[in-house]
Amino acid sequence: MLEASKTAMSTDSKQDDREITIYRGHIVSSIDEDSYLDIRDGALAVSQSGKILAVGKWADLSKQFKAFKGAGDVSIVDCGKRLILPGLIDLHIHLPQVTQIGKSGDTLLGWLEKYIFPAESRFNDDDHARKIARWFFDELASNGTTLAVVFTTIHKNATEIAFQVAAEKGSRAIMGKVMMDRLAPASLTEDTTASVDQSKALALKWHGYDDGRLLYAFTPRFAITATDKLLEACGKAWKEHPGTYMHTHLSESLEEVKKVAELFPSAKSYLDVYDRNGLVQNRSIFAHSIHLEDSDLETMGKAKCALAHCPSSNFFLKSGVFPVERIKNAGVEFGLGSDVAGGPQMSLFGVMKDANFIQPNIWITPCELLFRATRGGARALHLEDQLGSLEVGKEADFIIVDPSAKTAAPSDILDQGTDEILSALVFLGDDRMIDATYVRGRPIFVRDQRKYSKETFALHV
Ligand code: GUN
Ligand code: ZN
Repeated sequence: MLEASKTAMSTDSKQDDREITIYRGHIVSSIDEDSYLDIRDGALAVSQSGKILAVGKWADLSKQFKAFKGAGDVSIVDCGKRLILPGLIDLHIHLPQVTQIGKSGDTLLGWLEKYIFPAESRFNDDDHARKIARWFFDELASNGTTLAVVFTTIHKNATEIAFQVAAEKGSRAIMGKVMMDRLAPASLTEDTTASVDQSKALALKWHGYDDGRLLYAFTPRFAITATDKLLEACGKAWKEHPGTYMHTHLSESLEEVKKVAELFPSAKSYLDVYDRNGLVQNRSIFAHSIHLEDSDLETMGKAKCALAHCPSSNFFLKSGVFPVERIKNAGVEFGLGSDVAGGPQMSLFGVMKDANFIQPNIWITPCELLFRATRGGARALHLEDQLGSLEVGKEADFIIVDPSAKTAAPSDILDQGTDEILSALVFLGDDRMIDATYVRGRPIFVRDQRKYSKETFALHV
């Protein structure tokens, strides 16, 4: 694949860039669906403020830094032949459901009643909410996920706690309080106005926190548990908070689609239930989106919505097959979501594998799967200028990955071709391969601190 032809380095060293860390390793970063940047013995230079200053060959970059007048301390983290990849982006996941992973035995609506609603009801207890939020964000980090788009529960306090935990841990998230005002258990059914007011208060407080590390998404659960009044008020509230997202489920199971048609007889389609309330815009994120009309795809393509394809969940709940060709032909951007606990794993490597396996007649390459779990997700969220790839000026969200950590991988895997390495990641990968996870240059997970201790070089000029 592509070799970095020359090293690009920003020389407008700001005050906060006087401490630089260079990560030396095998750099792989998606360019598009079928190409990636591939630099063996490469280097990623990261400023103290967590921006990428340079990406290139180690030989070039180390020389360049020596000659870099005014440079402060330069630390080197030598990752050997291990991979340095952009952080993984999970476009759809449920925080409260981390306790329910692996509980199956029914399709969507029965599964929600049996396992999910009881688990979410417990989030009226702040201690429980804090404990699970800590677990959740630690799990994300140890799986290499550097941005997650998160459903919490209907509880304002529990959502507040989730934001606090993410803020403290240095995690990056787009998150929102679930909104439900009908057809849920009494303990999870809100007053319509209170639901919207609480969501607005949370958006006001948390959207844009820490220079955009945390963002808010208005989160009506799905059409079944929302009245038209709630969806309309949600649409208005969303409009009043520019830059926020709207995150919901769409056309996941046929049983759900049928029920939506019964509940909203005047709607032209499931998507129309959202569209007529102003919820189909360029910061809409729709999870699943399996059973759709061509006209719906056209509407979403024009509106520049994001779709979260959640293949592991679609297998687990037997929901159906994401129509990948039709979605691409309609020009709708999509990334990957774990949909825990509909999906039984947080590892986006496993989700990538399932995205391939679930298509009966289409081969999705490891190269494209890496794109979907990184840059493609950032693109769908309209954040590609900041996230999703290892490029100068972007946020230093990256992971260090060791495919040889899994015994099923051949011991010489790191010496094989990069396509073969990516194939091992996708088809054998899990959290054991993640050595370290960084958001904005700060480690949020390090498996073995000794491997990544910094060596500080006297590169002062
Ligand atoms: N549709 C409405 N709520 C949910 C949920 O919690 N998980 C999934 N997979 N689908 C949903
Ligand atoms: Zn979901």
